[in-house]
Amino acid sequence: MAANDMIIKIVSKNFDIPDSHKLDVALKNGRYTSIEKLFTMAPEDVTEEVCKSGLRGKGGGGAACGPKWKLMPPVDERPRYLIVNGDESEPGTFKDRQIFQYDPHLLIEGIICSCYAIGAHDAYIYIRGEYKWFIDRLNEAIDEAYAAGIIGDKIMGKHDFRVDITVHRGGGAYICGEKSALIESLEGKRGHPRLKPHGKECEWFYDMPATVNNVETIASVPNIVENGYESYTKYGTEKAPGTMLFAMSGPVKNPGVYELQYGCKMADVINEIGGGMQDGLKLKAVIPGGASCPILTAADVEKAYLDYESMWDIGSTLGTGGMMIIPEGVSMVDVAKNLIEFYHHESCGQCTPCREGTGWIDKILRELIEGVAKEDDIETLLDVCDTMNGKTICVFAPAVKDIIKSIVEKYKHEFLELIENKL
Ligand SMILES: Cc1cc2nc3c(=O)[nH]c(=O)nc-3n(C[C@H](O)[C@H](O)[C@H](O)COP(=O)(O)O)c2cc1C
Ligand code: SF4
Repeated sequence: MAANDMIIKIVSKNFDIPDSHKLDVALKNGRYTSIEKLFTMAPEDVTEEVCKSGLRGKGGGGAACGPKWKLMPPVDERPRYLIVNGDESEPGTFKDRQIFQYDPHLLIEGIICSCYAIGAHDAYIYIRGEYKWFIDRLNEAIDEAYAAGIIGDKIMGKHDFRVDITVHRGGGAYICGEKSALIESLEGKRGHPRLKPHGKECEWFYDMPATVNNVETIASVPNIVENGYESYTKYGTEKAPGTMLFAMSGPVKNPGVYELQYGCKMADVINEIGGGMQDGLKLKAVIPGGASCPILTAADVEKAYLDYESMWDIGSTLGTGGMMIIPEGVSMVDVAKNLIEFYHHESCGQCTPCREGTGWIDKILRELIEGVAKEDDIETLLDVCDTMNGKTICVFAPAVKDIIKSIVEKYKHEFLELIENKL
């Protein structure tokens, strides 16, 4: 597919406009135009439109957004909240910060639409602590929106609906991106994931109903409200309609963040949009959607399409769409070691399989690299991976198991060589 057919700019439409983050420029370029239509609709009709659009969460899991909003209980006297997840701490994922940098008013507009749909008057945006520059930029936009009467007691100074927005700076822990850990952190506690209920229900912030959505998910809502669900479903696949911001890092000629319709062939994206590998380099592997998605070999990449279902079919996941490109010549043992150091450090430590498992894998890989590994260490490593599956409070541990196991299984010869060379 040609680059022009793959790149569809909905969320990123204004990114290239000079000073697109400033309110006057944003207003001249279509920001806040969805609000008039919003207030002609009933809140449940907004939710219905989002359901029909098939909008899927962009924070990694791909959960359908509209049905999630419907988990909020009927409006009553209790406060209820929208929580926007801008933690973005996964290696290889760097797309939400484009929205903070280039179009923070789109996010504010999305928050107004989403708050109206779920009946919330208070929105919290939780951002990773290291994003100081982006936090400042977002706060400037929020200040502008308050000063212009866009948010506050009356939306756009006239609609009888209050929305207040608070930005919360995280402390820099990856696990605080997991929605229940994020809420714990927002409540002032240690960012530990909570046990999940058996059935589907909304989140609870200070025991009050809450919805957690990713930054890009919320930024996708104004277009759907203003232009209807068909403006979204005309792109992408049947099960994954619309677009997503895909980040590409590593030694391709044009690394960056590109808004693509779902369903593009990964090899076309790397070659046509990424410009292919830098001179003299050959593709070895791709970690497709942020660091916790099972690795794809160069042969897998030829079969990979960028939507959730296609990625499951080839044994990986789409995650956040952050593709990490790895060239020939890079040791996959080093890749695994690099990843596990991160996960070992970031495990919150509540669950034994995760706390101990990440440590064991880190230790075995270190010994392999240092040339002091034992012959059966690879089997032990795979065993440890299996103990991390299905027995933990959150999906951090199973995701670590999936990525590490995929690297060991697909590049086992590189691990074996280290043992054989030493023996
Ligand atoms: C370890 C871990 C880290 C996560 N980090 C993020 C993150 O940084 N940003 C994000 O939006 N979702 C993250 N998620 C997913 C959230 O738990 C949640 O599903 C998401 O924010 C829901 O929004 P969405 O439906 O709009 O994607 C993470 C999940 C896990 C298990
Ligand atoms: S799986 Fe790991 S990160 Fe998740 S709650 Fe358990 S110890 Fe914490």
